[in-house]
Amino acid sequence: MYTLGIATMTNSAACLFQDGHLVCAIENERLTRVKNDDAFPIAAIQECLNIANIQFSDLADIAVYWQPWRISTRALGTLKKFSSSALSRRHICLRIKEFLNPTESHQIHRSSSWLDLFLLHRILANAFGVFKAKITYFDHHLTHQLYAEAMRDWTDYASLSYDGGGEQASTVLSVIRGGARETVSVHNWPNSLGHMYSTFTGFLGFKMLEGEYKMMGLAPYGEPIYLDLILSKILRLEEAGRYSLNTLLCDYHAALCNEFHPEFIKLFGAPRRYDEEPTKVHIDLAASAQRAFEIAQQHVLSPLRTLHPNINKLVVSGGCALNVTANGKLLQEKLFEEIIIPPAPHDAGCAIGAAIASLKAKGIAADPASIRTPYLGSEYNSAEIESIVSKHCNGPTKKLAPADLVEQAAALLANGLIIGWFQGKSEFGPRALGGRSFLADPRRADIQEEVNKKIKKRELFRPFAPSVTEEDAEKFFEIQQSSPYMNIVARVRDGVAKKIPAVTHIDQTARVHTVSKSSNPIYHALLTKFKSITGIPVLLNTSFNIQEPIVQSPNDAMQTFLNSNVDALVIGPYLIRRTDLK
Ligand SMILES: [Fe+2]
Repeated sequence: MYTLGIATMTNSAACLFQDGHLVCAIENERLTRVKNDDAFPIAAIQECLNIANIQFSDLADIAVYWQPWRISTRALGTLKKFSSSALSRRHICLRIKEFLNPTESHQIHRSSSWLDLFLLHRILANAFGVFKAKITYFDHHLTHQLYAEAMRDWTDYASLSYDGGGEQASTVLSVIRGGARETVSVHNWPNSLGHMYSTFTGFLGFKMLEGEYKMMGLAPYGEPIYLDLILSKILRLEEAGRYSLNTLLCDYHAALCNEFHPEFIKLFGAPRRYDEEPTKVHIDLAASAQRAFEIAQQHVLSPLRTLHPNINKLVVSGGCALNVTANGKLLQEKLFEEIIIPPAPHDAGCAIGAAIASLKAKGIAADPASIRTPYLGSEYNSAEIESIVSKHCNGPTKKLAPADLVEQAAALLANGLIIGWFQGKSEFGPRALGGRSFLADPRRADIQEEVNKKIKKRELFRPFAPSVTEEDAEKFFEIQQSSPYMNIVARVRDGVAKKIPAVTHIDQTARVHTVSKSSNPIYHALLTKFKSITGIPVLLNTSFNIQEPIVQSPNDAMQTFLNSNVDALVIGPYLIRRTDLK
């Protein structure tokens, strides 16, 4: 019995379960090559069918991550905006036009909206033909939570989901005891920590819903001198862990069109242009917005201390869970003993959460091991890889045994070369976790600049993350748990920070990725080999892309390799140097 899970609008994605086993999951952007693709996930659905080698008509159930009819709060908010803002009126009229003419608009690439979910049967039938599968819609935050909660076998824990906004709620805090769910608090839209953070992101000249991590990377360079201003004028913390956002001043939808309330500008100065160097004001504002976000997150969690004092484990999900600095603070400040954030805490992960909810309703337990791996995308066999390699290389390229491949790659890295690393299935979620990564030696501070020059062409203030063998993680980082999905920031231990300067941020922290032998044997072997040469079980790991979605196929990898100046590409059983290229 096949169950398809889908998420659309932002970070659209699809996944496929066979009975309780997760077969695959993939974001649309990997296939369409449109970054943060919010179009309806036709390509992702087709890829899932291809991987499982089934037809759309074979599906028994289709699980959707959103209940479109529960829009009363949003509809009221939208009406209010319609009457008060010409900007919002333009935006809303465009969406209504698209809704009234869906067939035409689905012929071209465009953003999808919650209105599409009313037309789901028609959209799917247009794309895949007649089908009998039953479509069920689930609560958005529940789908965030169910996916994240599948990451651990804990019996008693808290589960926080927070994002821009679901059907009505933007934050949900629950406690789960022995499988029973109790709601601690629900915070309704337009109060939204996600919208608050994104509005400041836009104000600081970064692309909203994409550049939030840039603001997070900039924050440690500044002082949070605007914190009191934010907490008095923009985001008010109230009793019992509640908060309210001043949406008149902090207008997320106006910010999407690069417009800001005059009072907001009076408080924080002129918005930064995207091509302008960040000033001290901008950097301090990034630090302040980040600090306000962290304080608000801890404030939302605070009722747990009185209501559930023995709960010391936390699952975090929703787009706001991508704030890895805030995640790390929960551990650093010893608010929880252990936390877990899934590899795709943003809306893409809801495709899996919706499918889990659908299986649960049928009394089918989802297999946790199949959900916990981040390697859920397409895999390519060596013949497919060879056809790409031979097209671009001079003469025959030698196929290497895994041990030789690892040894040669580790030697190149230890000699200061930068490599593209393409192995096994693609990762689900926004992080490169050793399936599709660019790798470099973390011991040289100047390698950051070289990586930026050869590949990334990105802002110099943004840190690079380390991968470390799970068994060595504690020796290098102040973290007492695994961080298999690179979504927790930890302090780099005194004394070792100078050994790995390329992955140590200005505030002596790092976004840690712990690698176990069981989760990714060949990547773990590479880290181990690198350690045997250099004494350091750490590699700089950044996503295999150049300002585009992370590469998916061998062809994407080769094109990105050709467009970059990196020294070598390790793809399947092949190691290609630039001198091997035609
Ligand atoms: Fe969400």
